[in-house]
Amino acid sequence: MRATAIQSIHAREIIDCRGYPTVEVDVWLEGGAFGRASVPAGLSTGTHEAHERRDGEKRYRGLGVRKVVDTVNKEIAPALKGMDAVNQRAVDMLMVHELDQTADKSRLGANATLGVSLATARAAAAACGLPLYRYLNAAARVIPVPLFNLINGGKHASGQLEVQEFIIMPVGAENLSEALQIATEVGWELKDLIIQRYGKIAANTGDEGGFVPPMSGVEEPLDALVEAVKRAGYSDKVVYGMDVAATHFYDPQERVYTLAGKKHSREDMIQLYKDLCNRYKLVSIEDALYEDDFEGWAALTKELDIQLIGDDLFVTNPHRLHKGIAMGAANCILWKVNQIGTLTEALDVAEIAYRHGYGVQVSERSGETEDAIIADLVVALNAGQIKTGATVRGERTSKYNQLLRIEEELGAHAVYAGKQFCWKGYRV
Ligand code: PGA
Ligand code: ZN
Repeated sequence: MRATAIQSIHAREIIDCRGYPTVEVDVWLEGGAFGRASVPAGLSTGTHEAHERRDGEKRYRGLGVRKVVDTVNKEIAPALKGMDAVNQRAVDMLMVHELDQTADKSRLGANATLGVSLATARAAAAACGLPLYRYLNAAARVIPVPLFNLINGGKHASGQLEVQEFIIMPVGAENLSEALQIATEVGWELKDLIIQRYGKIAANTGDEGGFVPPMSGVEEPLDALVEAVKRAGYSDKVVYGMDVAATHFYDPQERVYTLAGKKHSREDMIQLYKDLCNRYKLVSIEDALYEDDFEGWAALTKELDIQLIGDDLFVTNPHRLHKGIAMGAANCILWKVNQIGTLTEALDVAEIAYRHGYGVQVSERSGETEDAIIADLVVALNAGQIKTGATVRGERTSKYNQLLRIEEELGAHAVYAGKQFCWKGYRV
């Protein structure tokens, strides 16, 4: 028996940062190596994501995952026993094609397959005596620019902002540790500014650690970010981004987006973005339009010369990405492993993006655990950008802290992607 053969797999129910139950999986190999991973969960989810299975029973208002845990322990574990963990593709494809056999992983649950997939990768890396990022890619060396989400709206906050995320990107930092310092100091300035303007009660934070001030529209939060960056003294090192998550304030019947009480057509939205790009150093907009409006996305991509990211649009799915590429919709994919449900499929999607000149932005979910695996994955992909919240809350800082360790480990070989990040994203 090979040392890297899977000896046992054990899943359990744990809780994420919102207190929602989620799946954690342990994988043991014959030679004694061990890997553990847990599964994140979205709230502002795309309609076309792989299926996240929940118990639907009284406990945790239906959100329990005990049935998923059972699936891992009683069905997936025996099927995978003895397989070589180093053969990630074989492990993942067995779950997808032989055990699940649905298009959206609704039988096993993408939260079952992903937990097993990621824990297997960790165990295999451990067996090889390598950090995960290096096990996945011997050429891994790019430390990503973080997109720090400092003002939270939409489904992640109890405020009135429709736009979900207002972001700063310290592209002018020398390295990740300076980027973290900049974001933290800007966050403190923003907090002071919010308290001055709206009082202490307004300085609470949302699901990704950004503030939830009583602001409205798009300009007010962007102006506040610009002012906070200025007060912190980093105007020359910071550019801006947004995740609009537009699907969540779009009415498909009326075909309008309602922003700050005003109705906007698709064309109005494109014009709004053009105006914003003229007024702010805005270099990255995610989910600018409705998730199924590929035509609108293609028009937007023609009109704007910045990074345009598809999250709900692509849902880390190869078919949706291919459709977008064929139509010229967006120029970057948001990469979330749980949207597709296995590491192998997620790596394949990133490869498609790269081959067609699309960027890849690795992302957390709003529902995270302290598992920092995306830090290793973003370096393995040399993707050059990561979106993982503000510099507060343990489930966010765990990712940043792991990236600091990787940056240290790579030493002089590390390349911080800031200087290479241009208005069309990270391209090398
Ligand atoms: P979610 O949001 O994790 O709640 O889906 C994140 C995003 O929209 O990028
Ligand atoms: Zn998004």
